Amino acid sequence: MTFSLYGIFLSIFWLPSLVRSDTVTYDFDVGWVYANPDGAANRPTIGINGKWPIPPIVVTKGDQLVVNVKNSLGNESTSLHFHGLYQNGTTHMDGPVSVTQCNIAPGGSFKYNFTVDQPGTYWYHSHVRGQYPDGLRGPFIVKDPDSPHKDLYDEEIVLTFSDWYHDLMNGLLASFVNIANPSGAEPVPNSALVNDTQNLGIKIEPGKTYLFRMINIGAFAAQYVWFEDHTMQIVEVDGIYTEPKDAEMLYLTAAQRYSVLITAKNSTNANFAFVGSMDQDLFDVVPDGLNANVTGWLVYDDTKDKPAPKEIAAFEPFDDFELVPQDKEGLYDKVDQSITLDLKMDNLGDGANYAFFNDVTYVHPKVPTLYTVLSTGENATNPIIYGSNTNQFMLSENQVVEIVLNNNDPGKHPFHLHGHAFQVVHRSEDEVGAYSANSSIISAFPKSPMRRDTILVRPNGNIVLRFRSDNPGVWLFHCHIEWHVASGLVATMIESPLSIQKQLFGKIPQDHLDACTLSKTPTAGNAAGNTQNLLDLSGENKSPPPIPAGFEARGIVALVFSCVAAFVGMAVIVWYGMAPMKA
Ligand code: C2O
Repeated sequence: MTFSLYGIFLSIFWLPSLVRSDTVTYDFDVGWVYANPDGAANRPTIGINGKWPIPPIVVTKGDQLVVNVKNSLGNESTSLHFHGLYQNGTTHMDGPVSVTQCNIAPGGSFKYNFTVDQPGTYWYHSHVRGQYPDGLRGPFIVKDPDSPHKDLYDEEIVLTFSDWYHDLMNGLLASFVNIANPSGAEPVPNSALVNDTQNLGIKIEPGKTYLFRMINIGAFAAQYVWFEDHTMQIVEVDGIYTEPKDAEMLYLTAAQRYSVLITAKNSTNANFAFVGSMDQDLFDVVPDGLNANVTGWLVYDDTKDKPAPKEIAAFEPFDDFELVPQDKEGLYDKVDQSITLDLKMDNLGDGANYAFFNDVTYVHPKVPTLYTVLSTGENATNPIIYGSNTNQFMLSENQVVEIVLNNNDPGKHPFHLHGHAFQVVHRSEDEVGAYSANSSIISAFPKSPMRRDTILVRPNGNIVLRFRSDNPGVWLFHCHIEWHVASGLVATMIESPLSIQKQLFGKIPQDHLDACTLSKTPTAGNAAGNTQNLLDLSGENKSPPPIPAGFEARGIVALVFSCVAAFVGMAVIVWYGMAPMKA
């Protein structure tokens, strides 16, 4: 980590009158290492500078952050996304490939450079299809000298929770989006981790109060989290300070964060277990012998034993809908633009299972969406040019935007919006079907709704989210289950495209463009890369066609298998290629 001379100059000479602002630099060489965090399988894992777990990024509010990424993976492209950071004025530093940048191909490098002016608990992860569960995900902490809670605790501890697979994502993804998996059953993780290990002991001193920053950096599983005989006091959720609320158990979906205060007991008589327990409702099949739990201990006395966690009668987590932001920002009650997203899962003509918003499954465009914005002049406001499979929505400036999401699926989904925290104005119970704005629902909207950047929608339920379009940029909205990103549960919010042009036209750094050259990605024109006729999308990336009328997906499987069986010598090979749905 280095600090710029300018930063030091400022702090020495101008500290009394200016907020301190440093430049914090990380040099990240991304490459394969071996890791065995659950002791059950030593596997290739994506590390940084030859190590895994990867380092946390730690900055102070107001800092300039520079992350120099070099891709030494050899066989895979990469990128980094800084989850929860608004990237105001720097949408080109947001990280999703084909959205705000090109792939960083093997051998390539890329500089992320932006100011961090929001405090709280975040994380960073690869934003290339399906890559982060291979290990490229870690904490991102923004310290706040002005935190309203800073006098309430003595020490900070970061806890990450995650689900871990013994197999690499590349193979798992190939078998997930596959004709041999027509129901779309997601691969089930092999184990749960805390701080990328198990049986973690945390040294606790009697009488002290700790701020635990908890982050679910998993790929799929939500986790129930509790500390035996200790109450948590929630003070921050996804970077938003909250009015303090006591909780005995939390539920963290993939990508959610909570900061909680925990006050230690005054005696050192005993040690106490804490548990992360994966929500098994998400798993279509629970494999025999799966241990869905990860245990750690608050260690008051190293010489005393570490008790096994007690059985619990039921999972009864705190309802995050009850949280109130500390700034008490009022409900956005006048909506300017409302977007309805109907979620479903279904098969396409290749027999595989896909995820859809409004009958469209996301397929990345040939030209990153931001580069289409920057290269199309006033046509940038025409949604057509962004292609037929990007689920794009144009947001105009400084409007109250509402997203109504109807989950027509029996699964739970954690939805995340880049570039914003949203007010959660409504979340239904299970099995109520589509949202309808009746007066009893509207009158129950909170006065100061919880804000966060990732929210669970319940099975066959709905959510209503609102935010102000005050941040020009190209922002994804997607399910944070990495399997569902791969199967297309993604929409693109193109916010104030003409303002993006004013901010960034001609200002995309040369190394960003070099990454496009190395990965052979066009940087101008519509989604198909057509710079002459922006309305001509021929050659664009598209999803497979629908199932031919009269066929069921299972029928297609049978049909394909009977054709394959005719080539007796090939049948075995094809079967192995399609079927490794290991649990
Ligand atoms: Cu954690 Cu698209 O984000």
